[in-house]
Amino acid sequence: MKYHEILNQGSKILKLNKIKSYSLDSEILLSSLLNVDRSQLIINHNKIVKNNEKKIFFFLINRRKKNEPISYITGYKEFWNNNFKVDKNVLIPRPDTETIVEQVLSYLRPQSTKKILDIGTGSGCIIISILKERKKCKGVGIDISKNAIKLAKYNAKIQHIKNRINFFHSDIDNFLTDKYDLIISNPPYIKQHEINGLEKDIKNYEPRVALNGGIDGYSKIRLTIKKSSALIKKNGKLFLEIGSNQVMETLKILKFNGFFVNKIVKDLANKNRCVVSTKI
Ligand SMILES: C[S@@+](CC[C@H](N)C(=O)[O-])C[C@H]1O[C@@H](n2cnc3c(N)ncnc32)[C@H](O)[C@@H]1O
Repeated sequence: MKYHEILNQGSKILKLNKIKSYSLDSEILLSSLLNVDRSQLIINHNKIVKNNEKKIFFFLINRRKKNEPISYITGYKEFWNNNFKVDKNVLIPRPDTETIVEQVLSYLRPQSTKKILDIGTGSGCIIISILKERKKCKGVGIDISKNAIKLAKYNAKIQHIKNRINFFHSDIDNFLTDKYDLIISNPPYIKQHEINGLEKDIKNYEPRVALNGGIDGYSKIRLTIKKSSALIKKNGKLFLEIGSNQVMETLKILKFNGFFVNKIVKDLANKNRCVVSTKI
């Protein structure tokens, strides 16, 4: 079978199974399996796929046709110019979350020496991306998931910043170590009863603990803000990602916990996504 034939067959199977991005996904899976750029698949479209590669390719297509996210199948997701290892224990980093990274980097001078805490670090994508660009800052990442912490440590190692970051397996409710100049967090913020209405890729595969914001969607936002208030230095900054319809309530919680709201930032889709505030 030639490259273009196997790609066509893969995308046909995905289309039949209602996978919207069938053609792109077939290309991503073959390029990841052969370890070549997608452009090479087009340039070498008449090249022959070996028999064992063919078998593995259809095994991967079979996983994707059941809605398993492409990043869990390839094992990687690109975020802020870096490639992060991901698996079923962590939320797949979203482009919307790059808004937090952008805001933190515009606040921190290149020579800044701040100490940063990332609450609910998951794959470590936010804190690692920031530390890679601010070489004198140090970081701590915590997560309630032991497996997420293992993966975040691995990502810090492959991104060569493991000497400037510590990860702890801890519930934010029990974490009271040290004071930080800056706190960042993308807490779970989806209402519990809305999770089953999400796309299959998300509801059947991504960790519930990374999505579930409790009955009203604010249980982890409240906890994160309350704990941040104790963990942050005076005049320290808190950068929070929230759901686009959660601004008003989040502002109330921030003010109640002694934060002054500096700004609300929209994401690429023009939705309210990030709140920047200062502890007063
Ligand atoms: C929305 S995910 C964000 C992951 C990553 N920071 C990102 O932006 O891609 C939320 C993370 O918070 C963690 N988490 C949930 N409840 C927690 C708690 N009580 N204490 C610490 N971490 C928690 C989850 O395990 C998950 O990794």
